[in-house]
Amino acid sequence: MEEKNRNSFTGSIGFVLAAAASAVGLGNIWRFPYLAARDGGGLFLVIYLALALTFGFALLTTEVAIGRKTKQSPLTAYGKLSEKWKSLGLFSCFIPMLILPYYCVIGGWVVKYFLAYLTLSGEETAVDGYFGDFISGTFPPMLTAVVFLLVTMAIVIGGVEKGIEKFSKILMPILVILVVIIAVFSLTLSYTDKNGVVRTGIEGFKILVVPDLTGITVKSFFTIMMDAMGQLFYSLSISMGIMIAYGSYMRDDTDLIGAIGQIEIFDTGIAFLAGVMVIPAVYVFMGRDGMQAGPGLMFVSLPRVFQDMGQFGGLIGCLFFAMVLFAAITSSVSILEAIVSSFIDRFHLSRRTATLTVGAITFVLAVIVCLGYNKLYFNIVLPNGADAQILDIMDYVSNNLLMPAVSIATCILVGWVLKPDIIIDEVTKNGEKFLRKKMYIVMVKYVAPILLFILLLEAAGIL
Ligand code: ALA
Repeated sequence: MEEKNRNSFTGSIGFVLAAAASAVGLGNIWRFPYLAARDGGGLFLVIYLALALTFGFALLTTEVAIGRKTKQSPLTAYGKLSEKWKSLGLFSCFIPMLILPYYCVIGGWVVKYFLAYLTLSGEETAVDGYFGDFISGTFPPMLTAVVFLLVTMAIVIGGVEKGIEKFSKILMPILVILVVIIAVFSLTLSYTDKNGVVRTGIEGFKILVVPDLTGITVKSFFTIMMDAMGQLFYSLSISMGIMIAYGSYMRDDTDLIGAIGQIEIFDTGIAFLAGVMVIPAVYVFMGRDGMQAGPGLMFVSLPRVFQDMGQFGGLIGCLFFAMVLFAAITSSVSILEAIVSSFIDRFHLSRRTATLTVGAITFVLAVIVCLGYNKLYFNIVLPNGADAQILDIMDYVSNNLLMPAVSIATCILVGWVLKPDIIIDEVTKNGEKFLRKKMYIVMVKYVAPILLFILLLEAAGIL
């Protein structure tokens, strides 16, 4: 009875677009370009692609299949697979609860930048100290975070089909068009600096795609690989409970493996195009040094790039932040949905009550995150050596510690306790061919848990 009443996507396209919309987010547009730029472009890209097709594929397939098989949210799905592993669901639901507040805060920063460009005052964002002044303000960052949260809640209250699927179907095509336009524009750029050196977008593109092995040591290779793996997690929405929730809304007659392949192509394609948008533009106007900007690349460096673009800069900046906003909203919707579906399944709340309850908790936490740059400011150094405020601590605990830990446990459960056939049977139940089956088994039993364990040790500062 409960299963009959469960929301579902209308079909394969609905599922693929919603899952791709979840996957394509700040991870692709904000995180991927800065990591690729910092880690030397081509080599990072090649490692990332190899991991996406193997490691990422195995974890994504596992989570979606768990969701579809159990028809349960992340909180309750593990218990349905095995009573003894029930508590894994708690972590799987706790992770999105930790991510959502700071995702809304960053989403709020994007709202602020988008509005600045929309009201033709985008050049202000290129002024030194603009970003720092904004995020350390008292009310403005809270207000933008709340706006972002309310939009997310409104879509989730709309439900799976009329909210999530409908918005994904509208926003994703617009997003793809915007990304392609800006990426092509970025490739056509060229700039002569004070010393008369000419840099072109095509040269920047080559940095992104051609692996450069000069000066690569075993240690730096290892760092790039770990960066790529962490990025995959974030980007494919793995271990955030999301793919279990979305899998639970997938119809039984949908070709699960085919859908996973399409999500991989979508997510990796958009991350690549985001790299094509950002890296050549930053290279042209700021040179190789500008590419080392790290997390500030999108909020600090890009506005300067838009300013240097001259007459088109304002328009490109506006389109760019509109696109980031769409990507971020569809992802935050999926993060909220992972929690809301858990509350619905576990506490039998209505969708509206569950969304309002989670929204209220998120609001309080988001305010605390904002205050982390203001009244509650402190700076600590994390075990992985990074400086951190409240937002970074939440990001570190969720992304670097809990997500690998939950995935290791999931691999042990599926690979060793229940055995991979439980997933293989689910994905081939309509007679589909599972071409990467052998690789899947090796990945879920051996490679993924070992790589994840190394990632966890590295994050904890032990390696
Ligand atoms: N996968 C989502 C992103 O990339 C969470 O932002």
